[in-house]
Amino acid sequence: MPTKPGLPPGPSGTLIGGNLRQFATRRLGFFLDVAREYGPLSSFRFGPRRVFLAADPGLIEQVLVTDAKHYVKHFGARAYKPVLGNGLVTSEGAFWLRQRRLSQPAFLKNRVLSYAPVMGELTRQMLAGWRPGQAIDIHYAFSELTSAIALKTLFDLDDPGDRERFTETLRLAFDLMSERFRVLFKLPNWVPTPANRRLKRAVADLFAVVDGFIAQGRNRKEPGDDLLSRLVSAQDDDGTRMTDRQLRDEMMTLYLAGHETTALTLSWTWLLLAQHPEAEAKLVDEWRRVLGGRTPTPDDLPNLPYTDAVITEAMRVYPPVYLIGREATRDLELGGYRVKKGYTVFMSQWVNHRDPAHFPDPEAFRPERWLDGLAKRLPKYAYYPFGGGQRVCIGNTFALMEAAIILAAVGQRYRFTLDPGAVIDVNPQITLLPKYGIPATLALR
Ligand code: HEM
Repeated sequence: MPTKPGLPPGPSGTLIGGNLRQFATRRLGFFLDVAREYGPLSSFRFGPRRVFLAADPGLIEQVLVTDAKHYVKHFGARAYKPVLGNGLVTSEGAFWLRQRRLSQPAFLKNRVLSYAPVMGELTRQMLAGWRPGQAIDIHYAFSELTSAIALKTLFDLDDPGDRERFTETLRLAFDLMSERFRVLFKLPNWVPTPANRRLKRAVADLFAVVDGFIAQGRNRKEPGDDLLSRLVSAQDDDGTRMTDRQLRDEMMTLYLAGHETTALTLSWTWLLLAQHPEAEAKLVDEWRRVLGGRTPTPDDLPNLPYTDAVITEAMRVYPPVYLIGREATRDLELGGYRVKKGYTVFMSQWVNHRDPAHFPDPEAFRPERWLDGLAKRLPKYAYYPFGGGQRVCIGNTFALMEAAIILAAVGQRYRFTLDPGAVIDVNPQITLLPKYGIPATLALR
């Protein structure tokens, strides 16, 4: 298709930084304003980088599906390679495709369903330690729970000591990596500055812990049901299997991509329910009728349409992944404009999920909007919490099942009363975090 000359419209920026400062100070508001003011395709600059924002579902489909083979992950996603290595989130091309094919069977629906009992059991263990009147931070509590579930389902890890060693070494490596991001002019990773040496040591410690888990997994006489056992035995058409290094990259990736996103889904859902007692009452009624106090099994889930609508709506209002991006590997056309090789195209769930054309009164939390088949009527990329195309989230079934099981298991026993003075705000990092946590008090249902 012939392209128009020049760039799509967009906000003016400064000579050196472009629009970085506007983005850094307002992030979500910046994307939303740009999309509302400049329409389906806009353009701006992050320092020397030319960036497009695709806000139209058809254009998003073109990037994620039609032209997917001419795009790679954007610069931000690549920055996590020191920890994620060449795992599914960060790898590209033929290597990514091979790894995806090897991993996919472990995420088929019937395999994923087998993790339901673990999810239920670890939730019960958490509840056993809770007391009415106790103060908790919702985000912290559910991150701990989804982390325990991830470590059990990924590595078959039960030992709290192992769990702690893993999360401690991981936290340190991530803190040091985030520190690196904050420094504007940094020397490459291989230059032995004190900061780089600290990061290198922290990553080495983390990898030693994970390699230990992998060695244990390989040495098991009977392969278990955990994802590691499944990936260890996964074979290519030519009979080759993943190396220890590949296993480590994939396991780190699955842990990091999977547990915090699910914890956030739960955290934002609890916040919205605490703020919307009428929705919470309907939910409790559904659980009473269908479950009568039981932890749901996968067979119950199709009978919990309101639970599903609540989770779907919470991920619309607070999408845990609010931004994805791709970099063009050659000159392409998009929306009548030329995307030159090296340009980045961003797509923001925060923006699309707030489009009043598809979601009237978009700021309102209304699970009912999903009850009459809205999902089927929407254009494909009007709602895409799990991304789309060939790189769609591999763990979406896992995440939705986990969220529904935990929500119902916890919600039948307890409700959360938000602290009256709590300040709730978003902190958009790689995922959409609550800036000051979500402080609440437990009350028996
Ligand atoms: C509610 C929870 C979750 C949300 C919102 C979410 C969201 C996403 C999104 C938007 C992407 C696409 C990123 C892009 O296109 O650049 C993605 C990819 C991915 N997710 Fe999830 N995710 C969730 C849970 C999980 C879980 C539980 C796992 C694993 C157990 C997982 C593993 C992955 C992996 C491996 C990829 C990369 C896939 C590839 O490129 O082939 N995610 N996720």
